[in-house]
Parts: sequence; structure tokens; C-alpha cells
Amino acid sequence: MTTDPLVVFTPSGKRGRFPVGTPVLTAARQLGVDLDSVCGGRGICSKCQITPSYGEFPKHGVSVSDDALSDWNAVEQRYDDKRGLKPGRRLGCQAAIQGDVVIDVPPESQVHRQVVRKAATARALSMDPATRLYFVEVEEPDMHSPTGDLERLQRALKTQWDVENVTADLSLLSKLQPALRKGGWTVTVALHRDHTGAAARITEIWPGLHEGGLFGLAIDLGSTTIAAHLTDLETGEVTASSGLMNPQIRFGEDLMSRVSYVMMNPGGDVEMTNAVREALNDLALSIADEAGIDPALIVETVFVCNPVMHHLLLGIDPVELGQAPFALATSASLSLGAPEMGITAINPRARVYILPCIAGHVGADAAAVALSEEPGKSDDLVLIVDVGTNAELLLGNTTQVLACSSPTGPAFEGAQISSGQRAAPGAIERIEIDPVTKEPRFRVIGSDLWSTDDGFDAATATSGITGICGSGIIEAVAEMRMAGLLDPSGLIGSAEQTGTQRCIPEGRTHAYLLHDASADGGPRITVTQGDIRAIQLAKSALYAGARLLMDEMGVDTVDKVVLAGAFGAHISTKHAMVLGMIPDAPLDHVSSAGNAAGTGARIALCSVAARAEIERVVREITKVETAIEPKFQEHFVAANAIPHASDPFPHLSSVVTLPAVAFGAGGSGGQSGRKRRRRSAS
Ligand code: FES
Repeated sequence: MTTDPLVVFTPSGKRGRFPVGTPVLTAARQLGVDLDSVCGGRGICSKCQITPSYGEFPKHGVSVSDDALSDWNAVEQRYDDKRGLKPGRRLGCQAAIQGDVVIDVPPESQVHRQVVRKAATARALSMDPATRLYFVEVEEPDMHSPTGDLERLQRALKTQWDVENVTADLSLLSKLQPALRKGGWTVTVALHRDHTGAAARITEIWPGLHEGGLFGLAIDLGSTTIAAHLTDLETGEVTASSGLMNPQIRFGEDLMSRVSYVMMNPGGDVEMTNAVREALNDLALSIADEAGIDPALIVETVFVCNPVMHHLLLGIDPVELGQAPFALATSASLSLGAPEMGITAINPRARVYILPCIAGHVGADAAAVALSEEPGKSDDLVLIVDVGTNAELLLGNTTQVLACSSPTGPAFEGAQISSGQRAAPGAIERIEIDPVTKEPRFRVIGSDLWSTDDGFDAATATSGITGICGSGIIEAVAEMRMAGLLDPSGLIGSAEQTGTQRCIPEGRTHAYLLHDASADGGPRITVTQGDIRAIQLAKSALYAGARLLMDEMGVDTVDKVVLAGAFGAHISTKHAMVLGMIPDAPLDHVSSAGNAAGTGARIALCSVAARAEIERVVREITKVETAIEPKFQEHFVAANAIPHASDPFPHLSSVVTLPAVAFGAGGSGGQSGRKRRRRSAS
């Protein structure tokens, strides 16, 4: 009796014996090896590419002869002539097993391929999207045994792909008959199947084999900015990223002012819903245009947002979120049709998934941060701060995860700052102030040169120097404090007090002149006392939120701090700590995670398993309410000083010495500044 040949797959290590003549794709399927196929083994999609290895493999106990696979066939030759196959590659559906063989499945042929994530600490993401492509051959109609085209398509999906319970809506039905006939009774369908066990939906159909790709949008809908990543649903790669300002800003800069707008203006919620939906449609069109794809290829969208944005996006009045007990209309995740929520610029049958909210003040954006950063899997106690107009904070480790939000206002995003602007070419993003001369140097977005470097003027000639973005203002305030231009209470000193003519009077206070191009008709960029106050309010809110979570956890220190946010990657961790935005920690334990909420959205877009996971994790997160907690106010007031009135910052002190200056005594500017701070903090 002869034994069947042994097949060993790498990298999975799965192995088994198969009769001579078994296609590699069939063997892979039987062993549960992750080998892709859209055409179901018909030799036309090329998704099933494999690399056979020949020779001795003592590790696997296999010796592979040159004729271990069937000969290169006409189907492979045709594909190679038309599209080209890499040397050594075969089509898994065409190559049949003849003898013992070792077969490598390259990453691009794996359905659940790993997507490389940039952050070193982040786990790999495994592709498991809700929408996938299936190529099917459908039986032709027969007068003598009448059945509908949809029913025969459903039968084909069942027999060829083992997919049951498939539905199609009316708009798809109208495309079905022409597609089947044009494709000669072969079609590719995009099929949406999520983790809830709901019926599979056909979201799109193409005659024959569709090779134009399939895309999804991961959208972080913030109070101030909207960031979108167009993602290839087959590879997980981000094809294009784009963002715009949230047009709801004209109704109120922060969340509560938008809720107040609705309270005072009947129908205001509808206006804001329309404004954001219009912006989202514009954003979808522009990002598709940038990537050079048809917007109809966008078949899925995932949203993460805070609760107020969540309700306004869905067309739900957010008034209940403005008052205790801050009840959400629903905190569950949502799966909807895109047109149902006014998203009409993409595929009309596209599906939308919205992550679950954690509580009335802690939204799907915080859930997305939890999905991306996984605090519940950390042995160290980690504080994650998602900096935005409404900051989201998570504190936790393997034993417990707490979450809260904090109303920081839009100052960290460059709004409410006299020379503030959004992060765009020409915006000052890095600043250093010489502690001796008090002279600044800076860098603007779009150039790597410092303003004191040769060639800076030429490098910035096109963009100009237009303002200060969020990360720039954080550095400016911290540098002013380090250079002795700003005292711990947040007062800017006069020219006499600081010894620099850059400290100029402004009303009853002072401002620091960072850049003056007014002689050439350009802008005069200063950091004013009002700017400092806005940043103090924002950072106090952030710090108070962190302290509240630490109180709840019963700790005074944390092991690690992660700064996240649309511009989180650009915040200098040292400057954030000088400012007292975050609690003291060893500086090398403070890191930036970039837009963690956006990353969480992308993970949920690429993986239904991740959707199921975050729905489970959210139920285990303990919510801490900042709005009604009296200690929040106490922490807020104490955090107004730079870096802090009473909390020690030993790790910061070991690397930075902050000058002991005080500009308030007897100075009119000082008095005015103090009064304003008290009022704002109350
Ligand atoms: Fe499509 Fe092999 S499975 S070409």
C-alpha cells in the first residue's frame, strides 16, 4: 500500500496527507490553512498564489523533488502572460500535489493577513472584514424549472462558498439581471456578514470577476476636526487619509455649547445633523478622488465619536446628554445602512458600524482608544489621554479599566488661540526659546528646518508662516515657562521683568512676540495672556480628569502615560509634562500613540472579531463621571498652576529646572490675570 504525499504549509506549520492530484487550494482548505480565493479555484483571481519549496527539509522531515507539483499549466501561463506572476509562484488552485511538498503561503495570499501597525507597542491586526468579495457561477434560467435569478445566485453562494441566508435589497435586485447576463452567468458579489449573526447582505454586484478593489472608511468624528482613512478592505492598507473641520463649530465650539444651541433654538439639532452629514459626504468624495477610486467602491464605514457627535450624526436630539443623568438614546453599537443616516456619496448599500458608547460622557471614541491601546491587557498601570476638544481618558491594567471624559475645549487644537490655526503647512509646530537670550526659534509644518537655519526663508516661501497649531502652542507655553518668561501662575512677565523686548504690553497684560513679519505685510504671531489662560483651562481639565481616575483607582502615580489624539503624535512629551497636562512619570515612560481613536476605527473596519471584542470590553470598563464630581473642581483649580500648585513632579524636576519667577506682585497685569482665572475656573 502506498502512502499519500505529505503536504506541509508554512508559515502555519499545518500538515496533512492528500491523494495525488489534489489541488493545493483544496488541501489548504481541508487543513484550515489561510489561503485566499475570490474566484473559487477557477484560475482567474490570482488570490491563491503560493510558493513551493524544493529540496531537503529536515525540520519538516520532508524531501521535496522537482516534480512534487503538477506541471505549470495553461491557466497559469495565461495569467502570467496577462498580469505576471512573481518567479517561483504558482496558482494554488491549479498546482496539484504529486509528491511530498513544502508550500509557503505569502502574506498577500492570506485572507487574515496581518496588517503592520506603526506603533511599536501595538498588536498586529488580523484582517477579518465584514465585507468580502465572492465570485460565483450562476446557473442559467430554465423555462421548464422556473426560478428567480436571485434564488439561483443564492444557491450558487451556498454550493460554491457555503454561505447561506443571503439577502439583497431592491436597489441591488435592479442590478442583478444585467450583471448576470453581461458576465455570462458569472458575477462577483460584495457580501456583508458581521459578527451579530444577521443575514448576509449583497451590497454590490459586478459582471464577471471584479478586480477594482473594495474599500471602507474609518472616520473619527471629533468636535473640532473630522479625520477619515480610506482603507483597502482586502489588504487593510490605508489608501488615503484626509480631514476637515467639523462645520458644527459655527453652532458652538465645544460640546456643551452645541447642546445649549439645541436647547435655545428649536430645530438646531437638525441643522447640525445636516451640516455634519454634508461635510461627511464632501469628505468621502474628496478622499475617493484623492485615491483615484469610484466612491461606489466604498462599501463600509466605521464611525467613532463622542456621545454628542454620535447623537447629532444619527439625527437624535442630544439635549439629554447636557444634563444629569446624561442618558444616551442607546449605548450599544449600531449597524445601519449608510443612506439611512444621510451618507449618500458612497455605495448606496454601504453599511455603517458605530462603536458602542461607554457612557453619556464617554463615547465610542473612548471605546476605539480602548480597542487600539488595550489598557486591559497591560501589566503596568497605564494612563491614556486622548487629547481633543473633549478629552477621553482611560486608566487601567489587567485588573481594571476606568474611563472618563473631560471638557478641555478646543485650545489644544489651535482654536481659541489668538494666532491659532489647524495643523497645515505654514503652522508653527515646534518651538524652542533660549533661556539666556529669550530668543525663539521654531519650525513650521512642511519644512524640517529651524527658523534660524540657512534656507528656512526659501523653504517656507510657499507656505508662509501663518500661525501656531495645537502642538506648537503646547511647546510655546512650556518653553516660555522654562525660559522664565511665564511664572507658575501663568502670568507673562513684562520686558523689564524678563529682560527681553519680545515681551510686549497688550492692554493690561503682556504677550510674547514669536514672529513679526508685519513690515512685509505678513502676520505678527504672539502668545498672549489670553492664550495662556485658554491653555491653562484646557490642561487643568485634562489633569483633573486624570487625577479623578487615579483617586478612583486609589493611586498617586501611574507607570506609563500614552498621549493620543489627532495630533497626539506631534505633542512633545516633555513639554506636555512641563505644562502639567499629564501626571508626573519617567519621561521615557511617556509616549505618543497618534490618533488612537482613528486607529480603533480602522481596526473595527478591518475586523468583525475586533467589533465583538470591543463590545465585550466596553461592558467591563468602569465609567467615572467628571461633571458631577466635586473633587473634579478641586483638582481643576489646583492644576491651574504650571505645572501644578501642589502635586510633586519629581521625574520632571530631575530633567528640567523651572525658574522660580513671579510676575504678579503689584503688577496690574498680574491682578487681572488672577481674577480671570478664578472666574473661569468656577
Ligand atoms: Fe482564484 Fe486560484 S483561486 S486563481
